[in-house]
Amino acid sequence: MIETSTSPISSLLLTWFEQYGRKDLPWQQQPTPYHVWVSEIMLQQTQVNTVIPYYQRFIQRFPDVNSLAAAELDEVLHFWTGLGYYARARNLYQAAQQICQQYQGTVPSEKEQLLALPGIGRSTAGAILALAFGQQHAILDGNVKRVLCRYHAINRWAGETQTEKYLWELAEFHTPRERVKDYTQVIMDLGATLCTRTQPRCPQCPLKIHCQAQQQGQQHCYPVAKPHKTVPTKTMQFIIIHTSHAVLLQQRPAQGIWGNLWSFPECNELIEANEWVAHHVNIQQPQWEIGALLQHSLTHFHLEITPLYLKLEKNVKVSDKLLWYDLKHPPACGLAAPVVRLLAQLREQPPRVTYELF
Ligand code: ADE
Repeated sequence: MIETSTSPISSLLLTWFEQYGRKDLPWQQQPTPYHVWVSEIMLQQTQVNTVIPYYQRFIQRFPDVNSLAAAELDEVLHFWTGLGYYARARNLYQAAQQICQQYQGTVPSEKEQLLALPGIGRSTAGAILALAFGQQHAILDGNVKRVLCRYHAINRWAGETQTEKYLWELAEFHTPRERVKDYTQVIMDLGATLCTRTQPRCPQCPLKIHCQAQQQGQQHCYPVAKPHKTVPTKTMQFIIIHTSHAVLLQQRPAQGIWGNLWSFPECNELIEANEWVAHHVNIQQPQWEIGALLQHSLTHFHLEITPLYLKLEKNVKVSDKLLWYDLKHPPACGLAAPVVRLLAQLREQPPRVTYELF
């Protein structure tokens, strides 16, 4: 169990907040529950500077829960393209529909109701309740975990169930009754600006006198790294059928990686690629141009992708499961990250070999 004396963290951080806390982030201008919710989802695993332009475009197009719920998923994914972790966008969209059906479009202010929505876990619920409603709830995102692991010199990996449970107790213990909004913001700000992962700036830290890691001169040893596990590598080939101005894309199934996003058809062997083009674009014995290997890391594995290019003189009619994606006037649809990279290359430097269509 944790000690019962009061925490000095909150008062030290709140004083520091006056001078150094972030007060003009776009979602702080009008911190409505909807704005805070969207920003918190975007900020999961993503840095503030990356999120800002995405947040602004998203809120301009979907200014409230109703407009988000009424949109097409494809358009929502389009506004998310480049941010990654697309399950966040699908959950946000689904949650917006639930909020419309169950709460008339008003984001609920009860913790249990928030937790029942897709994509909202304990920390995000805490952040929405604290930042938008001023309720006393703790948060425990990556920044806060790092601050607490150093402050208390926690010598176990924070992802372990027992350690995480203990960190939640600490997070709740340190969260003050008063000024909970400012406190919630400032503990994240400290983690993002001073108590950073690789180069913590301890001399400037308002918590340095109490921080156990800094007192031991061991701040670089915390948080303790996850026990090492090797991540497998998978290989695949992308079938890139293109003309000078368009390229064929296929929508991925809802389940699995890049769910619902548009991507290139895939295969594991050249013979499958040949079968694919024979079936879908009626070409026998295609002459492929093999592109440079592309590496892409996902949470549970690394991908090595070989692009197989086949250029056609003109579009052929294809089934409605496929899309001729116009490179100059792209339609609004969500794209997987390696697809974005390959489309950019295709715009800049199309491969040379041309296959004549009869
Ligand atoms: N990371 C998660 N939520 C945040 C917020 N509200 N401000 C800055 N960084 C964050």
